[in-house]
Amino acid sequence: MTGLVPTLSSRISWRLNLLHKTTQYVTIRAFKALRIPSRPVLPPLSSAFPLNSSPPHLVSSYSNKSAAVQKQNPLSSDDNLVILGIETSCDDTAAAVVRSSGEILSQVVASQADLLARYGGVAPKMAEQAHAQVIDQVVQEALDKAQLTEKELTAVAVTIGPGLSLCLRVGVQKARKIAGRLNLPIVGVHHMEAHALVARLVEKKLQFPFLALLISGGHNLLVLARDLGHYIQLGTTVDDAIGEAYDKTAKWLGLDMRRSGGPAIEELAHEGDAEAVKFRVPMKQHKDCNFSYAGLKNQVRLEIEAQNINAEIPISSASSEDRGARANIAASFQRVAVLHLEEKCQRAIEWALKIEPSVKYLVASGGVASNKFVRSRLNQVVERNALQLLCPPPSLCTDNGVMIAWTGVEHFRVGRYDPPPPANEPEDAQLDLRPRWPLGEEYAEGRSDARSMRKARIHPSLTSLIQASLLGQPKPTV
Ligand code: KG4
Ligand code: ZN
Repeated sequence: MTGLVPTLSSRISWRLNLLHKTTQYVTIRAFKALRIPSRPVLPPLSSAFPLNSSPPHLVSSYSNKSAAVQKQNPLSSDDNLVILGIETSCDDTAAAVVRSSGEILSQVVASQADLLARYGGVAPKMAEQAHAQVIDQVVQEALDKAQLTEKELTAVAVTIGPGLSLCLRVGVQKARKIAGRLNLPIVGVHHMEAHALVARLVEKKLQFPFLALLISGGHNLLVLARDLGHYIQLGTTVDDAIGEAYDKTAKWLGLDMRRSGGPAIEELAHEGDAEAVKFRVPMKQHKDCNFSYAGLKNQVRLEIEAQNINAEIPISSASSEDRGARANIAASFQRVAVLHLEEKCQRAIEWALKIEPSVKYLVASGGVASNKFVRSRLNQVVERNALQLLCPPPSLCTDNGVMIAWTGVEHFRVGRYDPPPPANEPEDAQLDLRPRWPLGEEYAEGRSDARSMRKARIHPSLTSLIQASLLGQPKPTV
């Protein structure tokens, strides 16, 4: 296969090796001649995909195609799509190639853990540079490992939001460059939808509707997934997400952040007494499904100060007494952080069953859902309600390219994609990036005053855009 991107210098390759977090090739198969052409039979681009009324170079994702067009192109579930997925919304640069059968042909993730460890959080400008440094090689490696010829790719899927716009831009530019050169359609993906939908790759039995708890560094969502692209947001966080609380607690306890804070807290918590510190469970008085982690974070910080724990002394050099005190805080924090999840999930299950009595699964996904304690506690909640818990494996819970490629498969099948970008798109083309992009419409009972006070500009939700396009209505505007 001819190289899709210029070869990177050996210094960068070396750096990439160091950065590799989970490079997992779940299934790598050499392709023989395929019986069915892997490129789906698309209606002619000119007639089927008139670029909507975007100004020149305003790149649109999710073309506002009517239900009629979608019906003309109903790709069945035994189709043979091969999609490259690219993810750069936060601090991981990831790419993967996935077949519509669910077969993962390759998966590559380069993490910015070294930057995270140094700065204790994601610094957008530095994260952008780190993505830009490795994106070519990550994508190339995903394509190489998949052992595909360029002609076998069906489409390119890429995260367009939510996330840091500087970071999103790196992935979107790369995706459009490849799609333009190979004349491939492009699917703009919602990062949080991808966290939820990857569960359908893992478990083929998972049908809509299902309930999803999506827990990561920046999001804490409870959504009822009624259908593809149709989500009701039952709850979200009014301030911080649980992953942020894990990361800050880890930083303040002087833990090794190179694998991010969550795993470090999970590990240390095994040594501690979860009853040692009595943190208050957030939002007890709120009879809704919303979350808040800023207060718990603050309680942890005050406790660390009160116990004179010095984060400058890394845990590896702490005395055994000091280590024990840190472990107690880690365990007590984790217990309360997860109790908050449990309480809100219990209510969300009740709400979800009221709206859709056929719900059978709670999907838990996003980085924090790779935590074993979180999984076991959530399992108890779902069992009490005669539901089943479905958690993707950890490598598919944390940010990855597979979930983006798979979401690309799901939307492509129903005809939701954009035409190939021009091969020579200018570098400064205005891109459709959606840094603040809700997944669904808020459930009326779940509306939080705290959040509706916020004035920040946000994009119309994925659900409202898709519902409007299905009804042939103009797209909702901000
Ligand atoms: O989904 P993700 O990879 O990226 C975002 O979209 O934010 O989630 C990253 C978050 C980080 O806050 C990280 O500390 C947390 O997931 N995380 C964990 C664990 N693994 C990752 N939190 C708790 N326990 C874990 N084992
Ligand atoms: Zn994520």
